[in-house]
Amino acid sequence: MPSIVSLSKIAEFNEQEVKIRGWVRRHRSKGKLQFLTIRDGAGELQAILSKADMDEEQFKAASHLTQESSIEVTGTVRADERAPGGYELDVSHIRIIHLAEEFPIQPKEHGTGFLMDHRHLWLRSSRQQAILKIRHEIVKACRDFFDDRDFVLMDTPIFTPNACEGTTTLFQTQYFEEKAFLTQSGQLYNEATAAAFGKVYCFGPTFRAEKSKTRRHLMEFWMVEPEVAFAELPDVMELAEDFLVMIVQRVLEKRQEELKVLERDVSKLEAVTPPFPRLTYRESIERLQKNGSAIQGGDDFGAEDETILSNEHQKPLIVHRYPSAIKAFYMEADPEQPDLALCMDVLAPEGYGEIIGGGQRVHDYEKLASRLKEHQLSEDAFKWYLDLRRYGSVPHAGFGMGIERAVAWICGLDHVRETIPFPRMLNRLYP
Ligand code: 4AD
Ligand code: MG
Repeated sequence: MPSIVSLSKIAEFNEQEVKIRGWVRRHRSKGKLQFLTIRDGAGELQAILSKADMDEEQFKAASHLTQESSIEVTGTVRADERAPGGYELDVSHIRIIHLAEEFPIQPKEHGTGFLMDHRHLWLRSSRQQAILKIRHEIVKACRDFFDDRDFVLMDTPIFTPNACEGTTTLFQTQYFEEKAFLTQSGQLYNEATAAAFGKVYCFGPTFRAEKSKTRRHLMEFWMVEPEVAFAELPDVMELAEDFLVMIVQRVLEKRQEELKVLERDVSKLEAVTPPFPRLTYRESIERLQKNGSAIQGGDDFGAEDETILSNEHQKPLIVHRYPSAIKAFYMEADPEQPDLALCMDVLAPEGYGEIIGGGQRVHDYEKLASRLKEHQLSEDAFKWYLDLRRYGSVPHAGFGMGIERAVAWICGLDHVRETIPFPRMLNRLYP
C-alpha cells in the first residue's frame, strides 16, 4: 500500500508510488488526458490522468470533477522541470470523495464584500493561505523570541472586572450576578506576574469596541505582551527593536514561497535592521506640521499622521514621550518633563502606522492612587493592582504588539481583515 503523502514532502518521493488526499483547484480535459491541480493545504501538485493507464469508469467519473471536489489519488511522482513545484503525478487510481457543487469563488475578480461573506470558503485560495501561513510563522517567532530569552508565558484572563486601555472601548458582558468586560490587554495582570517571575509575556485575544472603520482596526485581535521587572523605557525600546528584527528575519528565512505568492517586495523587509530611528513626540509634531498636517502639540496622532511619519523611514520608527494627557493612566511620567509619559509607539514603515505600544509603568503607590482618581477609575476595582505597589515595588516596563497589524505590514496588505481567519469588524460578525 502506498503511503499518504503531504504535498509539502513530495520531493522526497520522486519515482515512488504515493497516495494524496486533497481538493481539486483546477480541472482540464484534453482528449485522452485530464489535468488536475490538487491542493492539500500543505502544497499544490499537477496530476495527470491518462485514459490508457486507468480504469475506464474512474477516468470517466474524473471528467466530471468540479472545483473544490475532494479526492484521493494514487500515482507515481515524476520530477518535471516545467511543473510549478518541480513535480507531477501520473495517476493510476482516483477516488472521488465528494463532488462539489459549483464553487462560489471562481478564478476571477470578486468584490471584497462578497469575499468576506464567503470567508469560510475564501480561506482556500492560495493568497489567503500564504497570509495565514505567514501569520503562523510570526506567532511562532514571537513565542520563540521570548522563550529563548527565558520569559515565562502567562495566560491572562479574558473576563475582567476593569478597564486597561480606557473605558470607552470596553465590551461588556454578564458574569452571573456581576458585570464583566472582555479584556483589552493582559498588561495589568502581567505586572503582577512580572513581580512573581521577573520576565513574562502573555499572548491571547483582546477586544476593543472601537467605532473605527479603518484598515487597521479589528474588534477582536491577538496581542503579544512582554512585561519586565526592573526594566525602564530604554530597555523595552531595545527589546521591541530586537523583537521586530527577529520576526522579520524569521519570515524572510522560512516563508520565501508565501512572500512570493503575495508578490511582497522583500527588499523592504531586508531593510529592517537595527538600530531603528527614534523621535520624540515633540519632534514628530514638528515633522508632521512641516508635512502639512493640521496637528497641534498635545493632539494624539491620527491614522493619517502615523502614515506620514512611517512613510519617511525604511525601518520601523520609535516615537517616545507622548503627553501623559493622551495616554493610559498607568504610564510613568518623565521625571525631567513631568507632563510627558515614559512611553513609546513603534510605527511600521511603508505607511503601516502603529504596531507596538508600550512603556514604563507607574510604580509608586501614591502616584498610582492619584492617577486612578484623575481617570475616575474605582480604587476598589484596582485594589489588587495597587497592592503591587505595596510589596516590593520596582520600576517595570513592557509593550504589546498587535499580531494582525504586524502580519498586514510583513505581508504588505492594504487591510487587516485578511490577517486572521475570521475577522471581527465594525459591521461584520458573520461568518
Ligand atoms: O497601544 P495599545 O492600546 O497598548 C496596550 O494595550 C498596552 N496595554 C500594551 C502593553 O504595554 N502591554 O495596543 C497595543 C497594540 C497596538 O500597537 C496595535 O498593534 C494593536 O495592539 N491594536 C490593535 N490591533 C488591531 N485592531 C485594534 N483595534 C487594535 N488596537 C490596538
Ligand atoms: Mg497604542
